Parts: sequence; structure tokens; C-alpha cells
Amino acid sequence: MMTRHILMAAAALVFAAGTASAQQKVEQAPMKRTPASDGASMFNAYCASCHGLDATGSGPAAKALTKAPADLTKITARNGGTFPETKIRRYIEGADEIAAHGSRDMPVWSTLFRSMEPGTVPLRIQALSDFLKSIQK
Ligand code: HEC
Repeated sequence: MMTRHILMAAAALVFAAGTASAQQKVEQAPMKRTPASDGASMFNAYCASCHGLDATGSGPAAKALTKAPADLTKITARNGGTFPETKIRRYIEGADEIAAHGSRDMPVWSTLFRSMEPGTVPLRIQALSDFLKSIQK
């Protein structure tokens, strides 16, 4: 079976960043498997290293990034009291970034989830969006 070397959002690897971007560095470890419908587990496994276990942006890897990770507990507050679900799903997927050939510190999760477990991408993105919606302050 092919070993997949994709993003494991591990702080230690991000800290190893030299000239390459943080994302290239974190893409070197195997990605931990999680249930596709469990937003909280996915958040802890893939997102907390940058966004923090409390999702406020205080993860251990945050210092290695050029742009600070967003406080994900204030998405609703930043958007006039409504959680912008479609926008957030698209952001996590990275659909717009792929189209624009742009780059960002935030990983492109649709690609990563597809290489880990094809067919689960929409379910995973939805579960993550639902999880984020549930932690709004
Ligand atoms: C390698 C660090 C890193 C990891 C891992 C990471 N993010 Fe991010 N994220 C960022 C950064 C940095 C930003 C700020 C925007 C940018 O990069 O342009 C961001 C922004 C976001 C935003 C946009 C918030 C807004 O209000 O616009 C969302 C939503 C988000 N992340 C969700 C997630 C989810 C869900 C995961 C896990 C599946 C995750 N992030 C994993 C670094 C990360």
C-alpha cells in the first residue's frame, strides 16, 4: 500500500520551516485518519496546531506562519451575526485558491482529504463547517 505523505498539522514540522512555506513543511507527515462525520476530531487532528485547541488562533504552529491564523470562534461576530456557511465551506475546501493558482498558509483541505480518503470530501467539509458553527461566541 502506498504511504501517503500529506498534511499532518504538526507543530514540530511547521517549526522546521526554513525557506519553504509552512504548508510545504507540514505536508511531510502522514495524515492521521479520522471519522469523516466527526468535526471535533478532525479539528483537533488537522486544525488545532495552527488555530489552537480552543480555535482562537493560538496554536503552537501559529508563530511560524506569515499570516496569523484566524480566530475561528468569532466568524459569526465578524460577519454581522450570521455564520457564512457557504463561504466557510469554500474557504476550507480551498476551491477559490485552486482556481486562482494562489497560495496561502491555510492548507487546501479538499485536496488533502481526497488523497487520504476519496469520496468523503463533502462530508468532511460539512462536518468541519458545522463544528465551527457550533463553537461561535
Ligand atoms: C498550517 C496552519 C493552518 C492549519 C493547519 C489550518 N489553518 Fe485555517 N487558517 C490558517 C491561516 C494562516 C488563516 C488566515 C487566512 C490566510 O491564511 O490567508 C486561516 C484561516 C481559516 C479560516 C477563515 C476564517 C475567516 O473568518 O475567514 C477558516 C474557516 C479556517 N482557517 C478553518 C480551518 C480548518 C477547519 C482547519 C482544519 C481542517 C484549518 N483551518 C487548518 C492556517 C491554518
